[in-house]
Amino acid sequence: MSRFLVFEGGEGSGKSTQAARLAARLGAVLTHEPGGTSVGARIRSLVLDAGGVGTALDVRAEALLMAADRAQHVAEVIRPALARGDDVVSDRFTGSTLAYQGFARGLSVDELARLSAWAAGGLAPDVVILLAVTAEVAASRRKAVPDRMEAAGDDFHRRVAEGYRSLAAADPARWRVVDGSGSVEDVESLVLAALEA
Ligand code: TMP
Repeated sequence: MSRFLVFEGGEGSGKSTQAARLAARLGAVLTHEPGGTSVGARIRSLVLDAGGVGTALDVRAEALLMAADRAQHVAEVIRPALARGDDVVSDRFTGSTLAYQGFARGLSVDELARLSAWAAGGLAPDVVILLAVTAEVAASRRKAVPDRMEAAGDDFHRRVAEGYRSLAAADPARWRVVDGSGSVEDVESLVLAALEA
């Protein structure tokens, strides 16, 4: 049975690095949101680039654009890969919408969960790995030029981190919380141990 594995976490949590390493190890398809398809890449630059929508984007419009990205991503990349028998590792999925547009922006988490499930045609990950790091570690790893989300401020990112903790606590059968503060190799070992558990 092919597996659908997702990494979640705030900016600077190291999830892109760990997603790439896990995918290489498993021979899995590596993909990401937003922007895992060519339509999605346009949505990503619209939502995130500093030269995109700026501060004018309505929160619900932002949530719907993320859902549109997910619908295309599931239809074009994830489902076909799983149907071929490949494993899929995605850097972000529904958890990001719930943490960012829900817990951090203040939209209803239940409504977003329904929207996202609809967008994904009911597809849900087998396992979600949450890479947890302190605000200090995250800040030290952040890019020099922040995108629209990264520029949202410390309070926003604290709400994202707390949101992720609540999501993981509410669904322990699916979510694994991994300490992401160590070296790349140390975190990778913790990820592999969490997957075996
Ligand atoms: P990243 O791919 O570099 O981590 O950046 C993606 C950004 O988009 C990050 O700030 C989280 C945000 N995002 C949402 O707000 N909602 C979503 O549903 C997804 C997938 C990402």
